Amino acid sequence: MIRGLVIREAQAADRDAIRDLVTQAFGQDAEARLVEALAADGDVVMEMVATHEGTLVGHVLFSRLRVEGEGSAHDALALAPVAVAPAMQRTGVGTTLIEHAHDVLTARAETLCVVLGDPAYYGRFGYAHERAAGFDSDYQCEAVQALAWGAAPLTGRLVYARAFSAL
Ligand SMILES: CC(C)(COP(=O)(O)OP(=O)(O)OC[C@H]1O[C@@H](n2cnc3c(N)ncnc32)[C@H](O)[C@@H]1OP(=O)(O)O)[C@@H](O)C(=O)NCCC(=O)NCCS
Repeated sequence: MIRGLVIREAQAADRDAIRDLVTQAFGQDAEARLVEALAADGDVVMEMVATHEGTLVGHVLFSRLRVEGEGSAHDALALAPVAVAPAMQRTGVGTTLIEHAHDVLTARAETLCVVLGDPAYYGRFGYAHERAAGFDSDYQCEAVQALAWGAAPLTGRLVYARAFSAL
């Protein structure tokens, strides 16, 4: 972990800095708007930031995702987005943020998280397409990966928070 890196939950006062960071990391504002919509809709389960020397350099958000089966629904998580300030990318900030967030989420008894992203990156955290292949999703493809920490369904329809439909 980088010396001086602080990982903590996001606070209301971080909103402007989060918007700027996410926009810079992605080079567009679609993901920053997603973050704001998820927050406005009350769909954020956990949002963590990394700061370095008082500056916000990383952000990760987990929103509620429901896995709907026949007559049942399971509360899972969607990991998206993850953003690291361009100047700090590939220095371990993203890894530290995600690993710390996972520790907190498992301690809170969350059981399943789904991500849509590069397997070369998310595989290191244990995400695998095989674990997500049985789910029915509009986004279903090799990039849909899941990580289970406890008993969770292998099949069912993935229903993302409302803000994702505006992407
Ligand atoms: C993707 C991102 C979050 C990774 O965070 P990071 O702090 O830069 O990455 P880390 O330093 O923790 O990890 C670095 C490792 O991941 C790999 N990696 C980094 N970004 C990657 C990517 N987009 N795809 C695949 N591998 C990637 C690096 O090669 C490196 O591998 P190594 O440890 O074997 O050398 C960050 O680069 C970023 O904000 N990118 C722009 C926004 C984005 O694409 N977000 C992810 C989609 S939601």
